[in-house]
Amino acid sequence: MRERCPVAHSEFMGWSVFRHEDVVRVLEDPATFSSASRHLAIPAGMDPPEHGRFRDALALHFDDEGMAALEPRSREIAIDLLGPMLSSGETELMESFATPFTLRTLCAYLGWPEAQWECLGGWTHGNQQAAFSRDPAAGRALARLLTEHVQANLEEHRTAARNDDVTDALLATTVDGVPLDDEAIVSVLRNWVAGEGTVAGGISLLVLYLAEHPDLQASLRADRSRIPAAVEEILRVDDPLVANRRTTTSEVDIGGRTIPAGENLSLMWIAANRDPRVFEGADQVRLDRSGDDGLVWGRGIHVCLGAPLARMQMRIALEELLARTTSFQVGGEVRRSVYPSDGLASFTLMLS
Ligand code: HEM
Repeated sequence: MRERCPVAHSEFMGWSVFRHEDVVRVLEDPATFSSASRHLAIPAGMDPPEHGRFRDALALHFDDEGMAALEPRSREIAIDLLGPMLSSGETELMESFATPFTLRTLCAYLGWPEAQWECLGGWTHGNQQAAFSRDPAAGRALARLLTEHVQANLEEHRTAARNDDVTDALLATTVDGVPLDDEAIVSVLRNWVAGEGTVAGGISLLVLYLAEHPDLQASLRADRSRIPAAVEEILRVDDPLVANRRTTTSEVDIGGRTIPAGENLSLMWIAANRDPRVFEGADQVRLDRSGDDGLVWGRGIHVCLGAPLARMQMRIALEELLARTTSFQVGGEVRRSVYPSDGLASFTLMLS
C-alpha cells in the first residue's frame, strides 16, 4: 500500500496514511489532524491546549526515579515466571510470560494485588475482540467492568491512606488545581492497561526475532548493553502497534489525495517505520542505525507517555531470558494477532 496507494480509503479503517513523510506531517499538525475522541480518553483523545495540561500532570508518573524504584520488583516477576518455563523446556510465550509479566508489573506499579493481572488480561482480550467485531454492546459491558475494577482499587487506596504508590499519586494529581475524579482516573488507566498489551506484543516479537536469529541472540547474551538498541530496531521492523487515529478538522491535501473535513484517518506505523525513502535496507535489523527517524513511539505532542515503562519492561524481559538460557528457538506454530490486537497471538518457544 505504501508504494501503490500511499493514502488509501477503506470501509473498515477510513483513510489510511502509509508513508513516513505523510505520517510525520500529520503528527506535526494537530490543529488539522485532531486526536479528540467522543469518549473521555486522557490524554490520548485530547487536543491542545487541554491535552498539554493533562499530559504534563501525568508525565510525572513516568520519571526516572519511579522507573528505578519499580525495576527490582519487575525483575523478580520476570525471574518468577521464567523458572517453570526453564524446567519444562517448552512453553507458549504469551500465556506463560509476556501477558502475566507485563500486567503483574503494572499491578506492582499501581500498588494493586498482583493476582489482579488476570482480570486486566481478560479485559484487554475482550476489548480487542469487541473493537475488531465492532460490537458496541460488548464494548460498553467491558468498559463497565474496568470502571468497577478501578473504582474498587481507588476506594481501597482512599481508605488505607498509605500514600506510597502510583494509585495514591493519581488520587493526588491535579490539573489546574482540580483533582482528577474517578472517571478521569479510569480513563487514564484504560490507556495504561492497553499500553501493557502492546508491551506484551512487543516482547513476543522481540523474542521471536531473537529465536529466529541465533547470531544476534548470542551476541546480545555476550553483551547485554546492546539490548536497548536491539529493542528499538527490532520493533521498528516489526512494530507491535499497527495504527493510531486522527480526524481532519478541515479539508486537506495529503499524499496526492484530498480528504474532506471530519474524516477518520489511521496512521500506519508499521508501514511508515519500514519506508525505504527514510531507512536504507528498511526491512533489515541494523543495530548501528540512528534511532532518530523511527516512529515506534510516535512523535510530536502525543509521543508515547509510557515509553520509559515499556522500554524498561522489554529490557528486563530480554536481560533475564538471555541470562538464564544458553539458547532458545521457535518450537512450533507462530500465530500473529489480527488488528487491533498486538504482536503474536501464540508462539511456542523451546529453551535450554
Ligand atoms: C511497546 C509498547 C508501546 C508502544 C509501541 C507504544 C506506542 C505509542 C505510540 C506510537 C503513541 C502515539 C499515539 C498517537 O500519536 O496517536 C503512544 C501514545 C501513548 N502511550 Fe504508548 N506505547 C507502548 C506502551 C505504552 C505503555 C506501557 C503505556 C502506559 C503505561 C503507554 C501510554 C501511552 C499514552 C498515555 C499515550 C498518549 C500520549 C498523549 O496523547 O500525549 N504506552 N504510544
